[in-house]
Amino acid sequence: MNAAMATPKWTPQSWREKPKHQLPNYPDQNRLAAIEATLASYPPLVFAGEARQLKAKLAAVSEGKAFLLQGGDCAESFGEFKAVTIRDTFRILLQMAVVITFQEKLPVVKVGRVAGQFAKPRSQDHETRHGTSLPSYRGDIINGYDFTPEQRIPDPERMLRAYVQAASTLNLLRAFAQGGYADLQQVHAWNLDFVKKSKQASRYDDVAQRLDETLAFMNAMGINSATTPQIREVEFYTSHEALLLPYEQALTRQDSTTARLAEGYEGDWYDCSGHLLWIGERTRQPDGAHLEFMRGIHNPIGLKCGPNISPDELMVLIDKLNPRNEAGRLTLITRMGFDQVEKKLPALVQRVQAEGRKVVWCCDPMHGNTITSSNGYKTRPFQRILDEVKNFKAVHRGLGTFAGGVHFELTGKDVVECIGGDQKITDAHLAEGLYETLCDPRLNATQALELAFQISERI
Ligand code: PEP
Ligand code: CO
Repeated sequence: MNAAMATPKWTPQSWREKPKHQLPNYPDQNRLAAIEATLASYPPLVFAGEARQLKAKLAAVSEGKAFLLQGGDCAESFGEFKAVTIRDTFRILLQMAVVITFQEKLPVVKVGRVAGQFAKPRSQDHETRHGTSLPSYRGDIINGYDFTPEQRIPDPERMLRAYVQAASTLNLLRAFAQGGYADLQQVHAWNLDFVKKSKQASRYDDVAQRLDETLAFMNAMGINSATTPQIREVEFYTSHEALLLPYEQALTRQDSTTARLAEGYEGDWYDCSGHLLWIGERTRQPDGAHLEFMRGIHNPIGLKCGPNISPDELMVLIDKLNPRNEAGRLTLITRMGFDQVEKKLPALVQRVQAEGRKVVWCCDPMHGNTITSSNGYKTRPFQRILDEVKNFKAVHRGLGTFAGGVHFELTGKDVVECIGGDQKITDAHLAEGLYETLCDPRLNATQALELAFQISERI
């Protein structure tokens, strides 16, 4: 059968005909349509060419020639829209990248969960308190956190505010990436500070010392930030879950540089709200709206894979999302839970291998390891996060495939949300006022860097 006959035509709005999951009910549809039109008239946030560059880098990851580091907030918020928050997230990702690059001896592709990571899937549509039922909080791009009707009723106006915040965040990230903030010498100095403060300093000290010597040696050869852009600058990409399809559609644009006008082809479609977009665990129904939207955009995309996905289901999704088997197009972000990885991952990896599919395997050790603490906080034990990554790497090592990347929920701030780690955070500490997340618990900067040192230790 001809492929065009087998696959119905895609358009940026063809998702609207499909079953929708996790999308808000906007009471005023006219207002929604007006906001969508406004957003569609605004400039794209990223350029299609950048998304293609990221795809090429992810193709290298799929071949074992680079490593993917993806991380940031569970959900960005309007309240935390501050330069220091953006700076600290950027900074911790750079610090982790330096450690991983040095230990793995591979370039690290740096991707933030940032500049668009606002919308959240929820297990319940409504929340009830003292007999009152209101829509669940779905992230600041949809509704407000406070338990009042004014805040909880979805408001399309919020999409414009999210766009402005994303544009401004991206602007600052681009400035940091190219303006000297990301200088390798400087990032290394931050890591030395961490090593000095760390209780287990000696184990990190060795890595830091060796990196110091390497940088001094390179400097003696004339390779330093003044002479070498690779030392002075970084490439940094943005990503988020493509959950709120009206927002994603409005920022989806046709890339004129890929047009072939003589053939009447006006160019490939890209979702220009971010470089990489992913499909969440709750919205990956093969015939659903999210799959439909994502199959037609040309960005690199991610697919979350929880412990219940079967090899057959995964193949159906891969066929839909990457029918041409393009390297770098698809990153499978597995989030199994530390004790499920060894049971569930091998069958998926073996099937994908047997079918010759090119994918990046990335480990999200956060979403399968959420527990409730003895005093009622949603938290994640550091040890389980570390164990999920270690088990993920062990499975790939055993099967001869490449453990290509990691995906973390983290912040550069000194929050207390995940338990364990060098700081020995316990349940009791969660109640001491530094638990700030509106959504899932994040690694703080110390825990994040500690993980970077530990996950890339050669076993
Ligand atoms: C997330 O990444 O914040 C998320 C909701 O993950 P998942 O879809 O894997 O549950
Ligand atoms: Co989350």
